Amino acid sequence: DELEVRLYEPMRRHSTMLVGGPAQFWIEPRTFEAFREVVNYSRERGIAVRVVGRGSNLLVRDGGIRGVVIHPKGGAFDQCHVDDDGHIIAGAGVRLKKLASVARVAGIGGFEWMEGIPGNVGGALRMNAGAMGVETFDQVVRMTCLDEDGEIRVLPRDGIEVHYRNVPSLRRHFALQAVFRGEKDSAENIDRRWEESRVKRRSTQPVAASAGCVFKNPQEVPAGMLVDQLGYKGSGEGRAEVSLEHGNFIVNRGGATATEVLGLIDRIRREARDKRGIELETEVKI
Ligand code: EPU
Repeated sequence: DELEVRLYEPMRRHSTMLVGGPAQFWIEPRTFEAFREVVNYSRERGIAVRVVGRGSNLLVRDGGIRGVVIHPKGGAFDQCHVDDDGHIIAGAGVRLKKLASVARVAGIGGFEWMEGIPGNVGGALRMNAGAMGVETFDQVVRMTCLDEDGEIRVLPRDGIEVHYRNVPSLRRHFALQAVFRGEKDSAENIDRRWEESRVKRRSTQPVAASAGCVFKNPQEVPAGMLVDQLGYKGSGEGRAEVSLEHGNFIVNRGGATATEVLGLIDRIRREARDKRGIELETEVKI
């Protein structure tokens, strides 16, 4: 009951972009302890371990993934509640949309930017996801993770190095749960910001299958604006296409392969380098 294992699970089922080959071992642990055992067992045997949440910022190659892919789901990973301090405790498998609604119902403001984000808490911590000028770690009080020695530890926010879309320690540690802070606020204020976020997202971002923003914003110019200026909106490679709504999204027109998406990413990066001297870094995890 503590975990479920599947062999050669198609990753296309676990990515919002709907692309990607099979994962050799797909494992869903229900408890932190089961998660720890899977990681330690694999590490002892030199088997590669990755963690995949909602797959909303993920691009898996068509050849798939060798080794173990852990998907935190069920049990403690899906729990989300308000504690006595008015903080919100959420497991790695909780969707940000869910966290946003738990906060809204409890009259806690500051989580409205998460309303339309398809990813879960684990992924948001891993990459310090953000929107509307707010980032995940702006609201983290502490985080529980499995460290590189295979121990479950609680880290206070001050002990965690955090950058724009990058949390270096989570390359080695795995986030299991976090405690978030917001501000008591009126339903009117929360609803207004919720609506602002929804309207902005609906009017600027595509609804078609994608992995969200493909590139990190470089210093010089927002990546979407740059791709737009390079004239790439609507350009395609097979069934993968740069969104007409937003230049930093690549959408799957149906049946696209990872190879096509990667080909398009390479073309854009080359063009940005050659024409503008800008080195684009991917935000999606490949
Ligand atoms: N722009 C264009 N053409 C385009 C797209 C954008 O000219 O095709 C311009 C916009 O008009 C605006 C500027 O570029 O002046 C920035 O665009 P936007 O406001 O859409 O924000 P962004 O920097 O592209 C960031 C996050 C998004 C997040 C939005 C909303 C990054 C890489 N992206 O986008 O996050 O949803 O802000 O707050 O930081 C994601 O992480 O997957 C993601 C989509």
